Amino acid sequence: MSKDIVLSGIRPTGNLHLGNYYGALSKFVKLQNDYDCRFFIADLHALTTSTDPDALHQSVRGILAQYLAAGIDPEKAAIFVQSDVPELSELYLLMNMHVGIGELMRTASFKDKARKALGIKTPENDSEEAFEQQIIGASTNKRVNAGLLTYPTLMAVDILAQKARWVPVGKDQLQHLELTRRFARRFNSFYGVEEFIEPEDFQFTDKPVKVPGLDGSGKMGKSEGNCVYLIDEPKVLRKKVMRAVTDEGPQEPNSPVSEPIANLFSLLELTSTPEIVQQFKDAYADCSIRYGDLKKQLAEDILKVTDPIRERTAEILKDEAYMRKVLARGADIARAQASETLREVRHIMGIRKI
Ligand code: TYM
Repeated sequence: MSKDIVLSGIRPTGNLHLGNYYGALSKFVKLQNDYDCRFFIADLHALTTSTDPDALHQSVRGILAQYLAAGIDPEKAAIFVQSDVPELSELYLLMNMHVGIGELMRTASFKDKARKALGIKTPENDSEEAFEQQIIGASTNKRVNAGLLTYPTLMAVDILAQKARWVPVGKDQLQHLELTRRFARRFNSFYGVEEFIEPEDFQFTDKPVKVPGLDGSGKMGKSEGNCVYLIDEPKVLRKKVMRAVTDEGPQEPNSPVSEPIANLFSLLELTSTPEIVQQFKDAYADCSIRYGDLKKQLAEDILKVTDPIRERTAEILKDEAYMRKVLARGADIARAQASETLREVRHIMGIRKI
């Protein structure tokens, strides 16, 4: 029996951080033994926000090396670059004919990135009208590119082209996945076909993963400047963790835990043993906790995960021929599937030879 297909990708907009690792990459490594896995580097998606060609190119190489260094075995899982599969661009165009601009404009990540691109804040009244006014009516020479708006179409196509059943992602991508299912359902019912599978997110735990940042609030993200990167040098990493935001400490036994401290506990839960986590939780509960000790422990436990990845990444980056071979094999697999899907979709939509 053929195995279910798993697909996921990461944008090459810099190096990978712990959020990417626990939300996505570590799951890729676990899934490769049991599924037909395809993992890619979403360079076309990166173009929606990055404009520096050399940085993009370097980042694609870096992400590939980090995929391999983290343990993706290219003999088991296909690794490819999105732009090496040109069928995706045509499918993206065709799928856009079935996607509404309203539903795209309502996507949380679009609102967020569009405001960032224009350098405007979320207003108190974050209504649809206020947003439209800001985006369309912005009297500025900055603009929100159309690629950003249609980002979810391309992401849907990445998944649907491969006929993927499972998509391992972090919590922030769940809305995109919901749109993917909607587009698949809409296409199937519009043409009365069963062309696309409705994919689901893959989580190993009962909760989707959201890795917090070191700045006391929110999630770890490149644009938030609160990241621990997989290739951070130990000295840099320790310094970042030691500087993480904390509070004045519990004033009485069993005090509620503030957000910055809850975030440090979440990071410890991801990287440390349950015994150590419990030890610090008990120390918090009886007010004997010392945040310095907590941070030292956290830094050392993170380093146990990241240090081998950092070292292997440096080695892999030296081997251009190997990296090219990995991508060529991955592209062959991804293209074979995507071209079959494209052929079917063209036929279904009426693009046929006369
Ligand atoms: P990207 O590049 O922003 O992030 C890559 C993966 O890392 C996860 N992630 C996190 N998970 C938990 N906590 C965090 N703080 C955190 N930060 C990032 C993301 O959830 C994601 O899984 N749109 C995608 C790329 C993409 C894609 C696809 C993914 C394009 N096409 C098709 C899956 C399938 C993105 O921007 O991810």
